[in-house]
Amino acid sequence: MRISVIGCGYLGAVHAASMAKLGHDVVAVDVDPVKIERLAAGEAPFFEPGLPEILTEALASGRIRFTTDMAEVAGASVHFLAVGTPQGPTGAADLTYVDAAVAALVPHLAAGEFVVGKSTVPVGTAARLAAQVEAAVPGASLVWNPEFLREGFAVQDTIAPDRFVYGVPDGEVGDRAVALLDEVYAQALAEGTPRLVVNLPTAELVKISANAFLATKISFINSMAEIAEVAGADVTALADAIGHDARIGRKFLNAGLGFGGGCLPKDIRAFQARANELGVGESLAFLADVDATNLRRRAHVVELAEELLGGVVAGKRVAVLGLAFKPNSDDVRDSPALDIAGRLLRHGATVAAYDPEAVVTARRIHPELEYTESATDALRDADLVLVLTEWNEFRELDPAVAASLVASPVVIDGRNCLDRDAWTAAGFTYRGMGR
Ligand code: UDX
Repeated sequence: MRISVIGCGYLGAVHAASMAKLGHDVVAVDVDPVKIERLAAGEAPFFEPGLPEILTEALASGRIRFTTDMAEVAGASVHFLAVGTPQGPTGAADLTYVDAAVAALVPHLAAGEFVVGKSTVPVGTAARLAAQVEAAVPGASLVWNPEFLREGFAVQDTIAPDRFVYGVPDGEVGDRAVALLDEVYAQALAEGTPRLVVNLPTAELVKISANAFLATKISFINSMAEIAEVAGADVTALADAIGHDARIGRKFLNAGLGFGGGCLPKDIRAFQARANELGVGESLAFLADVDATNLRRRAHVVELAEELLGGVVAGKRVAVLGLAFKPNSDDVRDSPALDIAGRLLRHGATVAAYDPEAVVTARRIHPELEYTESATDALRDADLVLVLTEWNEFRELDPAVAASLVASPVVIDGRNCLDRDAWTAAGFTYRGMGR
């Protein structure tokens, strides 16, 4: 099938390459010529396992092309909208890119073609855009098919997701949209991936409510970490125990520094802003607490660092291991790790920071950190070690070697990812999160 993908950021680039992998003929458009040039050369603009491989394969097969010229989308049966919806100044989602993409696309649309929204948008956006598309191009339609991809697993989540959600109108247009999307995703559907057909606002809400639930789950366990810390309990053992209840589940119950990244923080704020606009702000009032609990984790670690450094951060050398918002990513958007590194710096510490993938992206935000080539280099002469992203490389560090490098064997395990007993046995004062 001929497919266009509008927007080549995280979502769009992965979606475009994945669609080509599925055998479709893809044209991918972005307004940024640098991004397009890199993608056309087979270079992924961000770290995502598996993406370079499928990109190279798609380019070699001729099934994908990248362009800044929107006119090239003409003739595609499906036009996926995959532009960003960043947080605006009030917390509400900024729809500038979505509106601009639709406006730029409409002159090239023909009757019978479908615009398929994938971006995370405030509920009600799809209906507004659908009316706009239908008015401009009679016979063309807009439906919504949200994406649930996780960074680090983005290719897998696109090609073989947990479920497909199609938000379509009732009637003939909806039926055609379902048939078309079934053809796009034929491979995964044949393997039994569930597919839910819902109306437009439900599809928009499925996405944002899933992210709100995940954020709530993380802040719930971080609240338990706060209680565990004062009560002498161990939040990891608690998570294991409650996680055995199938109704609760163990996933997303890892206490630590809380959530960051390009989705969860902005999505819970945009969701609250939209609920306020709809006059049901109270329904999501709890998300303000979810956000506050999440941000408290960062402040807590900075306070803990100060305490462990004897009350004075200024002039101390701290090793920060991990800068990305989560492992297997070079993304530092709203990263708790980078935020904490920045705060320690402002308190006057010398911060020696290392991350296996995120140094380049982190340097753009905090050029003043001392970036090292390896974890070992960061540890050298440190008065305090902070492990802030749970890369396997850090789990596998030999605490005895670490002890021989640092000036003072004190470690804060911000993600509860180290072997507490091994680090303690190596002579470290170990402080985890909620344990
Ligand atoms: C998230 C959603 O998972 C995904 O479905 C959606 O499409 C986009 O947003 P992503 O931002 O890639 O994906 O990261 P995710 O793996 O969800 O982690 C988000 C943050 O939560 C990370 O900072 C992670 O460290 C943190 N987290 C996750 C915890 O603190 N504890 C956990 O138990 C799980």
